[in-house]
Amino acid sequence: MPKAPSGVNANPYFEVRRSKIHGLGAFALKKIRKGTRLVEYVGELIDDDEASRRYDDRKMKQHHTFLFGVGDEGMAIDAAVGGNEARFINHSCEPNCEAIEYDDLRVFIYALRTIEPGEELSYDYAFSIDYKPTKADLAFYVCKCGAPGCRGTTLKLKKKGAKKR
Ligand SMILES: C[S@@+](CC[C@H](N)C(=O)[O-])C[C@H]1O[C@@H](n2cnc3c(N)ncnc32)[C@H](O)[C@@H]1O
Ligand SMILES: [Zn+2]
Repeated sequence: MPKAPSGVNANPYFEVRRSKIHGLGAFALKKIRKGTRLVEYVGELIDDDEASRRYDDRKMKQHHTFLFGVGDEGMAIDAAVGGNEARFINHSCEPNCEAIEYDDLRVFIYALRTIEPGEELSYDYAFSIDYKPTKADLAFYVCKCGAPGCRGTTLKLKKKGAKKR
């Protein structure tokens, strides 16, 4: 008999367990086809001020939040409140998933390619800060995805030679 999914939000595509990248991660339970919609990134929609109240970067050694920034007005989904297992999908610089945001500020995670059973799911967090990151910022946002093309940080970096806009 097949094993019953555990947990209220048990997702049919992946399970959450310890990851080599960071803490807990999400791992494919079966072969997943390119383009499959895997899960919605749900949580409480909050503004910048509330996000800063909840997560104080100065008190963290390394960046760790359950926020997903949405829209153009500093809003974020905080998956620490009312979130599901989507919040355990780690970042990779060579991801097998992508997060797509819709006009209503909802975010869904899709498979970017065929994913084999047991593979860890990941998308590119592409965190942004509004200035050129310092060495300290790069260390704070260190990436441990282990991909051959790892850029060393979960921050989105401007390409060398890219024109300023
Ligand atoms: C939404 S959580 C992901 C789940 C996380 N692994 C956990 O157990 O809480 C996002 C946080 O996980 C960590 N993280 C995710 N991907 C990472 C990576 N490639 N390298 C280093 N830390 C990562 C960072 O601390 C990030 O802020
Ligand atoms: Zn990386």
